[in-house]
Amino acid sequence: MYSQLQSIVSSVSSSQSYGPQYQAVVIPLTKDSKDLSGFAIGAQTKTALEDVMNCDFFAQDRERASWVKGQGEDQASFFLLLQLGAESEISRDSVRNSFGEACKMASARGFESLAYLLPDNACYAKDFDAGIEGALLASYRFTNYQKEEKLKQSLKKISFYLDAEDQVGSLSERLNEITKTVDCVFVARDWSNQPTNELGPDRYTEEVEALAAKAGLNCTVMHEDELIKRGMNLIMAVGKASVERPRLIHLEYKPKAPAKAKIALVGKGVMYDTGGLSLKPSASMMGMKMDMSGSGCVVSTILAAAALELPVHVHVVTPVVENAVAGNATRPGDVVAAKNGKTVEIENTDAEGRLILADALCYAEDLGVDRIVDVATLTGACLIALGDEIAAVLSSDEETKQMILESSKLRGEKIWPLPLEENYKKLLKSPIADLRNIGGRNAGTITAALFLKEFVEKTKWAHLDIAGPSDTEKELPICPRGGTGFSTMTLVEFLKRC
Ligand code: BES
Ligand code: ZN
Ligand code: ZN
Repeated sequence: MYSQLQSIVSSVSSSQSYGPQYQAVVIPLTKDSKDLSGFAIGAQTKTALEDVMNCDFFAQDRERASWVKGQGEDQASFFLLLQLGAESEISRDSVRNSFGEACKMASARGFESLAYLLPDNACYAKDFDAGIEGALLASYRFTNYQKEEKLKQSLKKISFYLDAEDQVGSLSERLNEITKTVDCVFVARDWSNQPTNELGPDRYTEEVEALAAKAGLNCTVMHEDELIKRGMNLIMAVGKASVERPRLIHLEYKPKAPAKAKIALVGKGVMYDTGGLSLKPSASMMGMKMDMSGSGCVVSTILAAAALELPVHVHVVTPVVENAVAGNATRPGDVVAAKNGKTVEIENTDAEGRLILADALCYAEDLGVDRIVDVATLTGACLIALGDEIAAVLSSDEETKQMILESSKLRGEKIWPLPLEENYKKLLKSPIADLRNIGGRNAGTITAALFLKEFVEKTKWAHLDIAGPSDTEKELPICPRGGTGFSTMTLVEFLKRC
């Protein structure tokens, strides 16, 4: 079955309409809150909850969340006392994560329905939307290949009840927007998690085409003849050893309303990265099915833009290849001309992302857009510099960089700027070509970005290196192990600001 946009049922309603029809009910509390009077639950249950709240383990913060069985009229529900921390510690990110943890706890118990009761006077009321994001994002599971785990997946409905009636309408609107975006994040996660024997270039292209058609996007797939005709020789050079042939996918979303801006999103689509003839050691090769995460995220972003009917004209340009090994593979030392005519000595075939992106960036610039943002699992050096929770942004345009940073902060994805230091450009000098594709051991993320910069002539441009956070080895509050869909939330927010 093809990947699909599939939402968990979710809603925001007034607390007045809350009834005991949920298997799990979350009661978020700040550390010093003793008062349950604002919550629309029965008196007997309140007493039971207060008993637990007064226990040392809860009051002293040794247990952040505790289940209590409902009493009397609420007896069909389990209540989760959720300690958010002291008021001074509570932030947008902590609310997102706490709400996510609560969702996972409900889902681990096999509950089908979950309600969050949001108190009127909460000090984090302005961050309710972040809580909604956390709860929905945390509901994701990837169980395609596990029969038993699939059966355990039970959560079908998440609802939020709000005391402040006048805010129900606006929070409902936010929920609607968040749900549509989260659905797209899940598609990106699915694609990163799918092993390459199931999702190679052919199958991925089919899935993108199917989702694009459903969303009403224009979709053009350029195959080898077209790539050669247009001079995209670097994409050919990286993809030529693969049985499934290299290609470039171009999607376009045109809003019905007049567009406020024209943006190109460019994503690295390496369906598998063996390193090519500069072969990766086995331990580093494991996991390289996720090397198409940049592509998955830009595609999921344009799907979200269409679902949300954002007033921005968006292009997605994504080269799709497999960096494979064969007798006809590109050799270290080969020289290949990019779309813009610059020649590249391919000193290391494992630095393939920047090669395919070079041609794709030239193509994107030819579309005549206002800004270009590219997203790529580009360098191991970025993981060394920032770890696996933070992506890097590098940009020659301060405004675009700030827009990315503000968007990422609001949507809970950590991104940090690195300098595009021109002095390091000399590290990319080749003795026989205009450029070489590696810059030595130092500042690997910066030299990779400087390489990309050679292929954007005049358009405002930012580059996101998501090698770290694109997947996670440890379970996160809002994401299980595997693909995270990192950058989709940020890019959707970015488009809203364009
Ligand atoms: N896909 C990798 C980067 C990567 C490494 C992503 C680890 C996620 C986790 C990229 O194609 C690559 O292999 N880069 C090389 C570049 C080097 C040869 C200059 C790297 O980072 O080692
Ligand atoms: Zn590589
Ligand atoms: Zn790669």
